[in-house]
Order: sequence, then C-alpha cells, then structure tokens
Amino acid sequence: MRAIVYGRYGQPDELRVEDVPVPEPKADQVLVEVVATSVNLTDWEGLTGRPAYARIGSGLRRPGKRVLGSDIAGVVSAVGREVTEFAPGDAVFGDNLWIKGGFAEFAVIPEKALAPKPDTLSFAQASVIPQTGAIARHGTADVRAGDRVLINGGGGGSGSFAIPLAKRAGAHVTAVDNAGKLDFMRSLGADEVIDYREVDFTATGQRYDRILDLVASRSVFSYRRALSPGGVYQCVGGSVPTMLRLLTAGTIVGRLSGRRIGVLGVKDGPEGFGPVTELCASGDLDVHVDRTYALEDVPEALARIGEGLTLGKIVIEVRS
Ligand SMILES: NC(=O)c1ccc[n+]([C@@H]2O[C@H](COP(=O)([O-])OP(=O)(O)OC[C@H]3O[C@@H](n4cnc5c(N)ncnc54)[C@H](OP(=O)(O)O)[C@@H]3O)[C@@H](O)[C@H]2O)c1
Repeated sequence: MRAIVYGRYGQPDELRVEDVPVPEPKADQVLVEVVATSVNLTDWEGLTGRPAYARIGSGLRRPGKRVLGSDIAGVVSAVGREVTEFAPGDAVFGDNLWIKGGFAEFAVIPEKALAPKPDTLSFAQASVIPQTGAIARHGTADVRAGDRVLINGGGGGSGSFAIPLAKRAGAHVTAVDNAGKLDFMRSLGADEVIDYREVDFTATGQRYDRILDLVASRSVFSYRRALSPGGVYQCVGGSVPTMLRLLTAGTIVGRLSGRRIGVLGVKDGPEGFGPVTELCASGDLDVHVDRTYALEDVPEALARIGEGLTLGKIVIEVRS
C-alpha cells in the first residue's frame, strides 16, 4: 500500500511516498481502508518532534512511528479475533493518536477508538471530528450562560468547534489567533477577537471566567491575572516548560488565589468525541474543512499548517 513515511524529525521535506506492507490487526484491533484522514496539530508536532512531548511513544532521537496521521474515517477491511463491535464493510471513524498511521491506504486502530460513521456525514467530515471534537467538548463542558470565555488558538481545529459550543452554552466569547483567522473566528460566533501577534490577552486588563488554551506559552501569573475570581484556566497543549509549570505552580497559585489553573484531561475515544459527532450529524454544528489534498500531497498540507494558514482543519482524501 502507499503511505507517507518519514525517518527523521524535521520539516515537511522529510516526508515521502513509499510502498509499505499493509499492517496486520492485533486481536483487539481493526484494519481500516482509509477514505479520509484529517491533519491535526499533533501531526505537525510529530513531524517536527516539538514540543518534546510529541516524541513520547515514538522515539526520542528518531521517530519510531514512521507514518503520521491520527484521525481516520474509512471502511473496515478486517478485524482481530477479539473484536466484536465491527465487521468488514462497516463505515467507521476515530482518533488513532497512540498508533497513528493514518496517512496511508490502510491503518490499524484499536476497536475502542472507533465509532460507526453517521450516514449524514461524509468520510471527510467525519475525519475532522475525533481529536478536536473531544478537546472542544471537554474544554467547554462546564461553560454556563453569561460566562466570559476566552479561547486561545481559536482559529484552528479545536477552536472551530469550541467557539460555537461556548456560544451555544450562552457565553460571551473572546477568541485569540493570528490576524488571518480573525474573520473566521467571528464567523464561528466569537463576540470579540484578538490578534496574538499584536496583543497579549493576559495584559489587557480584561478578566475571564474561563480560559481554554490550545497553545499555552505564558507564565502562571499571567494566566492568574487574566482570570476573574473563581475563574478556571485550562490548557490542552503548548510548550513543555509551560505545561510543567501549570501542573505544579499553576495548581498552587490557583488555589491560593481562589481560581483554578491547570491542564485539561481529554477523554479520547467515542466517549470523548460522541457529543460533538451527534451535533454535527444533526446539522446543529458545522464541520469546517479549510482544504482537501490527495495522499501524496500530505507534505504540502503539513506545510500549510506550519505556515499558520489553516482555518479549521485540512482533510487528506486518500480514496475518492
Ligand atoms: N490533551 C490532550 O489529550 C490532547 C490531545 C491531542 C492534542 N492536544 C493538543 O491540543 C492542541 C490542539 O489544538 P488544535 O488541534 O486546535 O490545533 P490547531 O488546529 O493547530 O490550532 C491552534 C491554533 O493556535 C494558533 N496559535 C499558535 N500560537 C499561538 C499563540 N501564541 N497564541 C494564540 N494562538 C496561537 C495557531 O495559529 P498559527 O497558525 O498562527 O500557528 C492555530 O490557529 C495542541 O496543542 C495539541 O498538542 C491535546
């Protein structure tokens, strides 16, 4: 089968098309013929090896997993002997974050990471949902009507679900991203937008009841300053030193100041992305596809992400 492989952490020019063997599903795994796969920030992080946590489970010096690609949608081709929920021919989708291998014609994925694809969603649309849908859902789960919510990195994949979810809950939403994504975030429902290259949202004097940070990079004290009393700051990704500080000093500073500061635990699998899937399948939440590319154009797709041009998500159409 054709797959996009790489052997060194680096830039998109490390990626090449190669013929590799079709993977064999283990007892609890499903072999999926991939129809569409969406590109996540985690793929960019896996390609570059930065932040350092992107190397966990792959390789510290060289990538042990040679094929990237987490979110897949396709058709079951074979199942391991312990698989009970799926059979060949089923249309499925899921997040293969721990095994990866989605930038290929076939991928193996644990049964528990998969869900049946709703008929109302195309394979491309379904492939957009798992990873970012789960993050957005968990990141907005406790938002209440009237909350002042800030979403940092709101113009990407998770933000394109999180902004409308926070609006549905009745919040006043401020969304932060680069200047090229401000109109997009307004179109998603953001009441106010901030260009992160021009304005530090923690230094404006504004205070928020909830901050969902997709790309944390600031000090614990900056985040505390931007929270109202009783407010909650949670990050899901960012630089490793920042995340370590949030897990340690953040917890203490939060407690001492009557706020909560920390890292958001995201439940993966259908339990995590199911609620967003239901809203998308019923037409109550839009799926935003920035562009689609063919499998051999994965390097170009990743370069677009690296250049900061993507509005929402990019989809790779592996099989037309
Ligand atoms: N906790 C978990 O279980 C879990 C699982 C998977 C992923 N993650 C993490 O969750 C995050 C997912 O984000 P995503 O999929 O929504 O990524 P995304 O689609 O790349 O969106 C991130 C957005 O943040 C913007 N950005 C970059 N630097 C910024 C800054 N300093 N201030 C404000 N915005 C900035 C990016 O814009 P530019 O184009 O300008 O860079 C991009 O639009 C990643 O950090 C990933 O590592 C966590």
